[in-house]
Amino acid sequence: MIDWYYDDLPGARFAAELHRLRERGEVVRVDALGGAMPVYYILSHRALTQALRNAEDFPPGHAYQIISLPFIGETFMSMDEERHRRWRPPMTTSFKRSAVDRMDQRRLAEIGHDLLDELQDLLHGGAQVDLVPEFTRRYAFRVICDQLGLPTEREREYYQMSMDLMFGGRDLAASQAADRELSTIARPVIQARRAQACDDQISRWIHDTTVEGAPVGEESILAHIRLFFTAGATTTSDAMANLFHALLTHPDAWRRCVEEPASQEGALQELLRYNPPVAAQPRFTNPEHDIEVAGVRIPKNSPVLFGIAAANRDPEVFQNPDHFDITRDTKTLLTFGPGLRTCPGMHLAQKNLGTALRLVAERFPTLRLAAGVAQEPVGILLRGTHSLPVTLE
Ligand code: HEM
Repeated sequence: MIDWYYDDLPGARFAAELHRLRERGEVVRVDALGGAMPVYYILSHRALTQALRNAEDFPPGHAYQIISLPFIGETFMSMDEERHRRWRPPMTTSFKRSAVDRMDQRRLAEIGHDLLDELQDLLHGGAQVDLVPEFTRRYAFRVICDQLGLPTEREREYYQMSMDLMFGGRDLAASQAADRELSTIARPVIQARRAQACDDQISRWIHDTTVEGAPVGEESILAHIRLFFTAGATTTSDAMANLFHALLTHPDAWRRCVEEPASQEGALQELLRYNPPVAAQPRFTNPEHDIEVAGVRIPKNSPVLFGIAAANRDPEVFQNPDHFDITRDTKTLLTFGPGLRTCPGMHLAQKNLGTALRLVAERFPTLRLAAGVAQEPVGILLRGTHSLPVTLE
C-alpha cells in the first residue's frame, strides 16, 4: 500500500503510480496519513485548475491553519482570505517582480560565482563533488538570507532545519528543536535591525511596514522568516537539484543548454513541469459543507491533495508527458498555482534557477554524473534529489 503523504516513490515510479490512479478518474480516494482518514487526490489538469481558483470550496487559509500554523506560527499564508489580502502585499515587497528584476543581474550572479569558485579547483583537479549539499542548497538559502538579511555561516544546516520545522506533524520534537535554532540565529538580527536599518526585508518589516494599523511585531517577523525558509528556500533548492538531475540524466539536453544558451529557459520551464518541487499541495474542503469535484462528492472538512505533478503530466494537456523535452510548450503549468495564493516567490525562484543554470553551463560545460547513475528525486508532497555526485569529463 502506498501512503500518499509520506512515501518516497523515487524516480519514474511516481509518474507510473500517478498514471495508475488516473485510470480510476480525475479525482480519486487514496490511502495516506497511515490510513487515519480518507484523502482525495485531484489528478487532472482541468479539475486542478478550477480547484486552485476555488477558495470557497477549498479555503486555503483553513488548510494552512491545520498544516502550517502549529509549526511555522501565524503568517499571511495561514490567515483567512480577508486578512491574507491585507497582509500578503506588505510582507512580500522584496519578492515582487520589480524588486527581483532590480537585484537579478548583480546579486544572484555574485552569489552563484562565489559558490562555484569553491568548486572550481576540486572539479578541475578531477575530484567528485556532490552538487546538492555543495551548491543547490547553499545557493537557494544564500539568496533567501541575502533578501531577508540573515547570516549564512550555518547555511549547510538550513535545509534540514527547514524540513524539520515544516514536518512537525511527523516529528514534533525535531520541529521544535529547529525552531529554537532558527530563532537563536534570527532574534539578534531583528534586534540589530531595530537599532540600525539595512537594505533588507527584515529592516523593511521593522521600519517601513504597518499592517492592520500596527507595526509588525517580533513574533510575526520570526514566523515570516520561518515561512520564507520553508516555502521559499527548500522549494527552490529542490527545484535546482531536480533541474541538474534532469539535465545530467539527459546528456543531449545538457549539451544543448551549453551550446545554445537560448535553450536554457525552455529547459527550466520543462523541469518545472517534469519534476516540480511542490508535487502536491495539501488542502481541506470547506468545513461547513460537502462539495463536488469532477463528479466526485467530497465530505466537508476532508483532506485533499492538489496533484500539481500529476496535472503537469496530464496526457490530455501534455503530449508524451513522461518525456523530458526542453523544446515543448509549457504555458499551462500549474507549478506555482493560479489563484489568490499564487506563489509570491515565483519570479525570484525562476531568476535563481536561470542564473544557476547559466553559470554552471558557462563554467563547467563538461559536467557529468560521477558514477553514471544518479539518486532519483523522492517525495510525494515536496520532491527533490538529495544527492548528485558530479565530475568533469
Ligand atoms: C521553484 C520554486 C517554488 C515553487 C515550485 C513554489 C510553489 C508554490 C506553490 C505551489 C504554492 C502554493 C500555492 C497555493 O497554495 O495555491 C506556493 C506558495 C508560496 N510560496 Fe512558493 N514556490 C517556489 C519558490 C518560492 C520562493 C522562492 C518563495 C519566497 C521567496 C516562495 C514563497 C511562497 C509563499 C510565501 C507561499 C504562500 C503564498 C500564500 O499563501 O499567499 N516560494 N509556492
